[in-house]
Amino acid sequence: MTFTDFKTYFQANQGHYTDLAWDDPHQLTAHELRAVRASLQTFQRGESSEGHYLYARAKQLGDAEYLAAMRLFIKEEQRHAAVLGRFMDQQGIPRLRGHWLDAAFRGLRRVLGLEHTLRVLLTAEVVAAVYYRVLFSATYSGLLQQICRRIMLDEEMHLNFQCFTLRHLSAGRGGVGAWLRRLAYRALMAGAALAAYATSRATFRAGGYGLLSFGAAIVAEYARVERMQQDGLIAVRGGQPVAPAAVGPVGAWQWPGQQLRAAP
Ligand SMILES: [Fe+2]
Ligand SMILES: [Fe+2]
Repeated sequence: MTFTDFKTYFQANQGHYTDLAWDDPHQLTAHELRAVRASLQTFQRGESSEGHYLYARAKQLGDAEYLAAMRLFIKEEQRHAAVLGRFMDQQGIPRLRGHWLDAAFRGLRRVLGLEHTLRVLLTAEVVAAVYYRVLFSATYSGLLQQICRRIMLDEEMHLNFQCFTLRHLSAGRGGVGAWLRRLAYRALMAGAALAAYATSRATFRAGGYGLLSFGAAIVAEYARVERMQQDGLIAVRGGQPVAPAAVGPVGAWQWPGQQLRAAP
């Protein structure tokens, strides 16, 4: 598998928001609005990055195919922002111009090189993978569920893409340095997860997640992501995996197994 495979995947995936049911008549109830309003605003803001710094860092790799894949990846994140924004417009939820959590992540990424920028991005992607699964269950809006389902599938491939690059960047590295780096990024993951829970608590509750179950979902997803950076399965959907399928917990992006929960 190569960066060309990811570029081809992102190209083929460009049109998959064209047939959403925008005519869905469901208006979020007052309960549902209270549950999802703040988190939708936060995550829509987070998805809307121009990606200038990330793109500049990606140039450091000196690989035209990687750069092309990165450009398409950034566009895909912007499509998430556009789709969520349109849904919010329909529901009368104002868009945010800025959010401290988003500013903190952007600030961190600005001062780091490519590898650490990707590691910071990865923590946000893990939070997103779990969040959209929760958001799926937080309301009875069929349109929002369609949106969540498609973003979840995209986020799964984003995790694969970043892990594939990180595996490439850190090949052959080990020892105390690698162990310390792993610990530092686990701490960042824990901090990002706590911040996300604190700012989007109402949505997690409506989706059936308390702090402990949310934490457990993050730990499982992050463990999968760490394995992918070492010797776990990475595959472009529909293509050949890098390594045989590893046995382990399924990703948070997969179809929610739990019963759909009503907003309180
Ligand atoms: Fe996204
Ligand atoms: Fe993503």
